[in-house]
Amino acid sequence: SIPVIAIDGPTASGKGTIAGRVARELGYNYLDSGAIYRVLAVAALAHGLFPESESDLRKLDALAASLPVEFRADRIYLGGKDVTESIRSEEAGTMASRLAVIPSLRGHLLQRQRDFRRGSGLVADGRDMGSVVFPDAALKVFLTASAQTRAERRHRQLIERGESADLAVILADLQARDKRDTERAVAPLKPCEGAHVLDCSDMSIDEVVNTVKAWYLKA
Ligand code: CDP
Repeated sequence: SIPVIAIDGPTASGKGTIAGRVARELGYNYLDSGAIYRVLAVAALAHGLFPESESDLRKLDALAASLPVEFRADRIYLGGKDVTESIRSEEAGTMASRLAVIPSLRGHLLQRQRDFRRGSGLVADGRDMGSVVFPDAALKVFLTASAQTRAERRHRQLIERGESADLAVILADLQARDKRDTERAVAPLKPCEGAHVLDCSDMSIDEVVNTVKAWYLKA
């Protein structure tokens, strides 16, 4: 079957950068599973739907089941509209993590993620790639870094995008997101069985990419 490299880890650990680079270097497909949760979040915000409301939850289920998301040439579309930039806002990230605690919504997004497994291989990044979505992955990596390092990276990213950003606020938000991601009942964030844990706080991107590739070639 088509090989999968699963890269899971907390917010701003650098999963996206690493997974994208490894995919490019191996000529594999790349799945940014968080982007799918973010697209659902943007759609929910646009419809004014909140997971705390029973009736909204039914509508969110329907929305997730038929989410008109498309990945084309490095751009992401929701119902034909380019949402590549708007899904990266902190508002979308926070809503994504609130929606991600709901089992039925996660279930609706499963097949959509598995559809990325085509061509010669797949590198998938997220929270439950190794545990739920691709339990038969050839290599499972849990990529992490200290909260301070991750907050500094996210801060730099936001500044580069020209957004105003306060490091203390980002650190607090990141810790709240970690708490929600680790304490939720469904697909909680933790290294799954068989995962190689990599703390990349003091590693360069090249070092992390090379470590993952070396593990994969040995797997
Ligand atoms: O950029 P960041 O790592 O914060 O977020 P992301 O990977 O884009 O994912 C946004 C949110 O979706 C996360 O906070 C998770 O709660 C959720 N998520 C998830 O539950 N499972 C995944 N496979 C991917 C994302």
